[in-house]
Amino acid sequence: MKILVTGGAGFIGSAFVRLTLGDGAQHSLVNVDSLTYAGNLENIASVERHPGHSFVRADIRDAAAVAEVFAQHKPDAVVHFAAESHVDRSILSPEPVVTTNFMGTFQLLEAAKRQGVARFVHVSTDEVYGSIPEPLDADEQYPISASSPYSASKAASDLLALSYYKTFKMPVMVTRASNNYGPNQFPEKLIPLMISNALEDQPLPIYGDGQQVRDWLYVDDHCRAIHAVLAKGSPGEIYNIGGSRALANLDVVHRILALTGKPTSLLKTVTDRPGHDRRYAITSEKIERATGWRAQMNFDLGLKSTIEWYMANLDWVARVKSGAYRDYYQQNYSDR
Ligand code: NAD
Ligand code: TYD
Repeated sequence: MKILVTGGAGFIGSAFVRLTLGDGAQHSLVNVDSLTYAGNLENIASVERHPGHSFVRADIRDAAAVAEVFAQHKPDAVVHFAAESHVDRSILSPEPVVTTNFMGTFQLLEAAKRQGVARFVHVSTDEVYGSIPEPLDADEQYPISASSPYSASKAASDLLALSYYKTFKMPVMVTRASNNYGPNQFPEKLIPLMISNALEDQPLPIYGDGQQVRDWLYVDDHCRAIHAVLAKGSPGEIYNIGGSRALANLDVVHRILALTGKPTSLLKTVTDRPGHDRRYAITSEKIERATGWRAQMNFDLGLKSTIEWYMANLDWVARVKSGAYRDYYQQNYSDR
């Protein structure tokens, strides 16, 4: 099967590309990415010369560029990762978030409709459900109640994608994963930021009381789930993908301090994020029943191997941090 992957130079997309082109690859990939601050060709250097991989630098908001990619490569399926993926950036600068996440998805759906693809997996997030009160775990019927421009733009793109199933009978499936962690994640999200700051003896910024709860999913477990949906999911369906590992942020950060051997004096409470969701929690029963997929990575082992990856790749961290990242944080967060 020829799969058009969008955002395949980012954190999760590149893990999907590496996994798919690993031993005994059954698929070829066309990887479309505009290489924003979060897209990095180093993430896919190991498959650069793989015969089943073509990289196209293009912006998914550009209808003509997207049409050209479809016309040239004629993919059988689409796995759509490309997005502006960071909540804090979406608060400070919502425009690229709204245009990429909503209009970019629209351009892909239109091109895929014209082409008549066999499968379209729209990769989304559990954040569309908003904060979930204890002791509930949201299933796929749980009402959408997005809090940030990021989660609202993802919720809107989920609805648009599902409308292409209802209206045009396009074989669209939506996946909603919980918080991912693993190698190659840009150090702006909680786990890679805390690891890289700890390794540099920099303060670890805790938003508010640090008791917000997130469910942690190892990135390769997420990628295997997407393959399971691609192979066995039913068109028009939504599939939650969780790691079954809910932890308060402070708990995660204390584990990072312990594993890196750094002192708790690095912890620094900073102003809370506006509209901060208190708790994300989902059930993955539907995908487990439908496909047999289950999250496999134990959180402590996954966190340890993630820290080891960052320690072995300090040059990667320095390179990504020396770009837009530093300017952005210095301009916008004087207390962090
Ligand atoms: P990321 O920010 O690491 O990577 C996004 C990629 O998309 C980058 O390579 C970037 O260059 C590319 N991109 C951005 N705008 C583009 C555009 N206009 N045209 C073409 N390419 C563009 O993101 P990620 O963490 O890998 O997330 C991938 C997907 O998974 C997103 O759709 C996100 O909403 C979803 N998701 C992420 C998480 C998480 O914890 N990171 C959890 C659930 C769902
Ligand atoms: P983040 O990784 O941005 O993911 P999301 O907001 O999409 O869940 O944040 C995860 C949690 O960590 C969230 O509750 C916000 C918190 N957080 C901090 O306390 N400090 C930080 O520096 C960051 C980036 C996040």
